Amino acid sequence: MTRIKVGIIGCGSIAKHRHIPEYAMNDNVDIVAFCDIIAARAHAFADQYNAKAYVDYTELLENEEIDAVSVCTPNSLHAPVSIAALKAGKHVLCEKPMATSNEEAEAMIAAANESGKKLMIGHNQRFVSSHAKARSIIESGELGKIYSFRTAFGHGGPEQWSADGEHSWFFDKERAFIGAMGDLGVHKTDLLRFLIGEEFVEAAAFVETSAKANSTVDDNAVCILKSESGIIGTLAASWSYNGGEDNSTVFYAEKGIMRLEDDPDYSLIIDYKNGNSERHSLGAIQSNEEGQQTDTHVVEHFINSIVEDKTPPVCGNEGKKSLEVILAALESSETKQIVRI
Ligand SMILES: NC(=O)c1ccc[n+]([C@@H]2O[C@H](COP(=O)([O-])OP(=O)(O)OC[C@H]3O[C@@H](n4cnc5c(N)ncnc54)[C@H](O)[C@@H]3O)[C@@H](O)[C@H]2O)c1
Repeated sequence: MTRIKVGIIGCGSIAKHRHIPEYAMNDNVDIVAFCDIIAARAHAFADQYNAKAYVDYTELLENEEIDAVSVCTPNSLHAPVSIAALKAGKHVLCEKPMATSNEEAEAMIAAANESGKKLMIGHNQRFVSSHAKARSIIESGELGKIYSFRTAFGHGGPEQWSADGEHSWFFDKERAFIGAMGDLGVHKTDLLRFLIGEEFVEAAAFVETSAKANSTVDDNAVCILKSESGIIGTLAASWSYNGGEDNSTVFYAEKGIMRLEDDPDYSLIIDYKNGNSERHSLGAIQSNEEGQQTDTHVVEHFINSIVEDKTPPVCGNEGKKSLEVILAALESSETKQIVRI
């Protein structure tokens, strides 16, 4: 089989810590191009991987050798870059949040359909071991009916993570569109949809900018969500959980309580109503903290979908549905109304 030739657009932290190493260890891939508006970033990786460097993504897309691209740019560029790449005949792995509106998300899906190329969104939480096991437990009916949940994704903020530190685009509404809700909240709407196997139909939320100075985006949000079968719960997204990360999800069900990523030693715990309990340590979840970058399997799934010509596990439509819940929560916070999704 001919190897898939990949270009990386945006050479900041997510490219450095996840996309590039995961492509590099994939036997079906050659990384042939890097693009960043900061030329030194593209050149540093191009030198390391014997690839071409670009500062303008439209020029990278003209390179006919390239089969697939990763879009690792600020959020506002996800849709325009992905659409241009699909129109240029490239498969696209786009980071989350997929886009800044439903219309943009729809245009990305249409571009993928028209080109016949794959579009996958980088929602890695589904592939975390504890989450994958939780999905099969819920699906098997072992926990009985799910009544409610609480989920949180919070840390001290992207200043320690982004290539541009405290001056990052993450804090600028023009380039980011949303703050903690788009950075972290959307991971959890995608995870919850995946775990319960249902769509959310209503959202209410408080979304605040309370923690960060010099920021034009939200940094603290608490949402209440209701699914189509009536499962209700809270989702918190925050850039002000100073002193440690919370990435936990808890389900309250007919036969017991299931805790995911809520204990440092056991990533999946079930305490059953009948007194039995299960403790599983299944390997660490990815975290911004140093030394916590394990294989997310996102690149592996993307490349497999190309090689085996199948729909990627987080296709454009899935990305759009996970984004819709976040957009509804933002609308609720603005209008002070419960929003139907
Ligand atoms: N899946 C995850 O868990 C996860 C984690 C972190 C970030 N992300 C997402 O990845 C994306 C990138 O985030 P990051 O953390 O790498 O940010 P970052 O600030 O570290 O890097 C962004 C890079 O994009 C470059 N860039 C900006 N405009 C560009 C353009 N027009 N063309 C090419 N490059 C351009 C910047 O110079 C910078 O090097 C964001 O959408 C973010 O939400 C996903």
